[in-house]
Amino acid sequence: MTVAGLTFRSAGEIVFGRGTLERIGGIAAGLGSRAMVVRGGRHLDASRNIARLEALLGDTGVEAIFFTVRGEPDVEVVDGAAEAARGARCDLVIGIGGGSALDAAKAVAGLLTSGGSALDYMEVVGRGRTIDRPAAPLVAVPTTAGTGTEVTKNAVITSREKSFKASMRSPHLVPAVALVDPALTDFMPRRVTAATGLDALTQLVEAYVTRKANPLTDALALQGITLASRSLVRACDNGDDHEARDDMALAALLSGLCLANAGLGAVHGFAAPLGAAFPVPHGVACAALLPHVMEANVAALRREDAGGPALARYDRVAVALGAGDADGAVALARELVQKLEIPPLSRYGIGEGDVAVLVERARQASSMKGNPVALGDKVLADVLRRGIGA
Ligand SMILES: [Fe+2]
Repeated sequence: MTVAGLTFRSAGEIVFGRGTLERIGGIAAGLGSRAMVVRGGRHLDASRNIARLEALLGDTGVEAIFFTVRGEPDVEVVDGAAEAARGARCDLVIGIGGGSALDAAKAVAGLLTSGGSALDYMEVVGRGRTIDRPAAPLVAVPTTAGTGTEVTKNAVITSREKSFKASMRSPHLVPAVALVDPALTDFMPRRVTAATGLDALTQLVEAYVTRKANPLTDALALQGITLASRSLVRACDNGDDHEARDDMALAALLSGLCLANAGLGAVHGFAAPLGAAFPVPHGVACAALLPHVMEANVAALRREDAGGPALARYDRVAVALGAGDADGAVALARELVQKLEIPPLSRYGIGEGDVAVLVERARQASSMKGNPVALGDKVLADVLRRGIGA
């Protein structure tokens, strides 16, 4: 690969390791004195983590104001949290939770200094404003191992009524610190471990085969695929397997670094419109489509670019997965999705009548441009039908 030049962006600092939550007090105290803590509310165990967080902040004299985000953040929730943070004169934001809570925290950090509503800044549906000044310092603490949003510059915001999902995106939204403590993921239920882990694997594979990949993301993506391949099923089968949990937390972090710097592909092109219109978790949408997109890409590349670099990349993905060749990688992805009991998309009310409009929306999604080969509408429709599982 010739490299004309590249830019690599990440969180200002990455703190990774089992038990690193204990360092949050010192980290926060170095960034501010009043923290808006944007937290998720999903898991029963979250309350224990939150209590510990509050104690650790208190130890270093950082005041904490809490805001709970349930489910995926919409414009109103984000605006409400930003208003609360402004009212309490917060000078620091901490996000702790899954991708939804962290995305909300990123948006709040941006709104805190730039003002206005999330809608002002959202891509596609927004009013064209940009976050062009530094956001409030943000510490992102993931409690799932999936999205990698702790190191990326965008925050996905939803509006269920209007059926859209769009990003606020700015280099200023990259967290100052990504604190990844795999112990926080130990209590994730199997279903969530499977879906979020397959999201991470999808991100790693898509960022590796994309036309926008570069040598830095390549190295990270292959390392991440190797980790996910040895530990995803283990983490699902035994949530107390700390080694597997640590591997998956690292794989997810790597997937975030890769997607932030190389982009994604057709799976994520579909995931955004699917998640906007139906109550399907992001990881499930990705998992259900991953084997079918891989299969379609490999087939299209064999037809159109058999000697090209993208097909060779699928062979290297296969090696990292321990699957032999590109066909083996597709088969292995299919087996994983079955073994981890990812439900078909039909379970979320998605059917044949939705195919045409979803294909149309997916075609326009920014991730689709990163796919290693252009897939026609008929192929995209077939891919989606397989994911629907009708
Ligand atoms: Fe994803």
